[in-house]
Amino acid sequence: MSDGTFVIAGGSGGIGLEIARQLAPRAARVEIWSRTPGELEQDNVVSHVACDFTADEPLPAAPDQVRGAVYCPGSITLRSFRSLTSADFRQDLEVNLLGAVRFLQAIQPRLAGVEGRPASVVLFSTVAVAQGMPMHASIAAAKGAVEGLARSLAAEWAPKVRVNVIAPALTDTPLASRLLSSPEKREAMAARYPLKRIGTAGEAAALARFLLSDESGWITGQVLHSDGGLSSLRV
Ligand SMILES: NC(=O)c1ccc[n+]([C@@H]2O[C@H](COP(=O)([O-])OP(=O)(O)OC[C@H]3O[C@@H](n4cnc5c(N)ncnc54)[C@H](OP(=O)(O)O)[C@@H]3O)[C@@H](O)[C@H]2O)c1
Repeated sequence: MSDGTFVIAGGSGGIGLEIARQLAPRAARVEIWSRTPGELEQDNVVSHVACDFTADEPLPAAPDQVRGAVYCPGSITLRSFRSLTSADFRQDLEVNLLGAVRFLQAIQPRLAGVEGRPASVVLFSTVAVAQGMPMHASIAAAKGAVEGLARSLAAEWAPKVRVNVIAPALTDTPLASRLLSSPEKREAMAARYPLKRIGTAGEAAALARFLLSDESGWITGQVLHSDGGLSSLRV
């Protein structure tokens, strides 16, 4: 991981918090942008900037020379198409797509590679885009839009900025807590996966850290699946 400044939108909880934790010992500066500060202690490397990506207010000023930026806020809306309202679709688009757009518009002028090594952006999708699943119409539509956004920006910003997406399946975070609220639910969920378990925030964060680093310097415009094999295997 190169030294540098990283901005983690949604770095106060879940996968974003793990990304911030993993980056902090390696980075010059890690800025967390979210509504609440979260549990990571602030010091001369880690700082918190309060903001809400779905609010109708300007985002904070981005720091200079951003080597990497990640947008983590998202939702898990599991409802039948029949019961979904246009307000539900709008809400999923707000936090998953338009929040990412606002974040990237604020950050883009400050994205800066070093000596021919591009800056790196990481966005989050879901396994439910690559594989159709019942009850996922709203979230899959919103995340499908995120994947399209990422590929477009990867083309538009090359060669100065790389843009990639991580598409997780069920990962043990506060966002997924309702689906994992009892040992029975956890067991039933784990059984659906070829690797027979759900994912950890640390695993998704390690993939994000790789995509932010120069080790992934020839990867852009990709959607990487961190999903226990769910999107591609039938076992
Ligand atoms: N966990 C899963 O099973 C799973 C599965 C598939 C895809 N994903 C995707 O992976 C990404 C990360 O998920 P996660 O499980 O880590 O989510 P999480 O546990 O809900 O954490 C989300 C983070 O985003 C921040 N955030 C949420 N809404 C915000 C807003 N309006 N403005 C500013 N900050 C906001 C939260 O902090 P504050 O509350 O402090 O603002 C928190 O730091 C999401 O895009 C999600 O859709 C997750």
